[in-house]
Amino acid sequence: MGFWGPRKPFESVTVHEEGRRLAKTLSWPHLIALGVGAIVGTGIYTLTGVGADRAGPAVILAFAIAGAVCACAALAYAEMATLMPTAGGAYTYSYAVLGETLAWVVGWSLILEYSLACSTVAVGWGAYLVGWLHSAGITLPPEIIGGPHAGGFVNLPAVLVALTVAGALIVGTRESATFNIVLVIIKLTALAAFAAIALPAFDSANMTPFMPYGFLSHVEGGETRGVMAAAAIVFFAFYGFDAVATSAEEAKNPGRDLTIGIIGSMAVCTLIYMAVAVSAVGAVNHVAVAQSSEPLAFILRTLGHPAMAWVVALAALIALPSVILVMMYGQSRIFFVMARDGLLPRWLSAVSPRTGTPVRITAITGVFVAAVAGFFRLDEIAELANAGTLLAFIATAGSMMLLRRSRPDLKRVFSCPKPMLVGALAIAGCLYLLFSLPSLTIGRFLLWNVIGLAIYFAYGRLRSRTQVAAAPEAI
Ligand code: ALA
Repeated sequence: MGFWGPRKPFESVTVHEEGRRLAKTLSWPHLIALGVGAIVGTGIYTLTGVGADRAGPAVILAFAIAGAVCACAALAYAEMATLMPTAGGAYTYSYAVLGETLAWVVGWSLILEYSLACSTVAVGWGAYLVGWLHSAGITLPPEIIGGPHAGGFVNLPAVLVALTVAGALIVGTRESATFNIVLVIIKLTALAAFAAIALPAFDSANMTPFMPYGFLSHVEGGETRGVMAAAAIVFFAFYGFDAVATSAEEAKNPGRDLTIGIIGSMAVCTLIYMAVAVSAVGAVNHVAVAQSSEPLAFILRTLGHPAMAWVVALAALIALPSVILVMMYGQSRIFFVMARDGLLPRWLSAVSPRTGTPVRITAITGVFVAAVAGFFRLDEIAELANAGTLLAFIATAGSMMLLRRSRPDLKRVFSCPKPMLVGALAIAGCLYLLFSLPSLTIGRFLLWNVIGLAIYFAYGRLRSRTQVAAAPEAI
């Protein structure tokens, strides 16, 4: 067996043994809600400020660039998800097309995407809670609202929200997904209210200079700045649609439901972000916006609407956990599939007969997410999550392109338009965003994957079910 490992036989990708198959309970309204639930979150509610810090008013441009790259990736995802409607997303596609070793790297990177996205959102949620309580006259002690980097001990609000969501997921998919629809409506209404108040306060003076730090990512005054540096972090605001693809095995009618779910949620979110970003940096000077850890509430307070600031923060508090919910759901399914494939311990992949959910894996994910959220800095966690996601997007677009060449005969429920062009744009865009991240983040990402590969060669490769199945022929 070569370094790249075996490919999972294409036809076996959707066939699973009894007791390790997930129930088909989701239809397209659930999937759009899952998508929007995962997409709209800390990226727009909090990282708008970090983006403004890195790019100035041109954070609007950063949102447009990140959105365009994600749109290309979303088309590739839609084709692959409908072709292989099974849990695991980019990991599963890579396994069938690129081979086991790269699939492992992608799966290992997806841990960063899903788990660290949950941690990021938990930290963003904590900041809104602290600001919200503060405006109600309650000030929490600094020791319990930030990790050591912020002069505290632990970010307790972030830890608690992560553990609570893990508990909700353990109770069952269906209940969580339906509840998610209500949360999605709340957070979209809050963003609409924000834009309705901030847009009339638009002042063109706030827009000049539009690009104070230039376009390319570079280090300036010890910080990574430029429109591309901002795009590389606000990219966080766009992903989550792949969580819809990840839940393909649970879709009732994958062909129709997934196409609507992925493309629909992507389009809705891009439009909303443009409106919110223009409203935000148009209404208040970007330097002030950049200094707040709860920028939307801050802008409303600055504009003289403390009551609305309070309401929008409350909406964020109620609704941001829906992002954690969807991403944690995606994470537990990735672990689940990797364990089912034998690359991680198999006992992890057991599904509870009572709830139909992988309980052990969800609990472990919850603890990991809470631990990271409790002790690390928001932008650093988000950047590492982005690195993992960018790699997964590259692998998905590459798998789509290769499969078009090697298996043109496959019946595609959804065909990506101009697949070679869209795929190439997705890969080039993701690579460009990846290399626009701070070099520290890129270094951590490489280290994470070196550790991952060591585990793979010491454990997973020896126990892989695909390797075992292929062994008699190999001898
Ligand atoms: N896109 C999601 C968010 O912005 C992860 O919170």
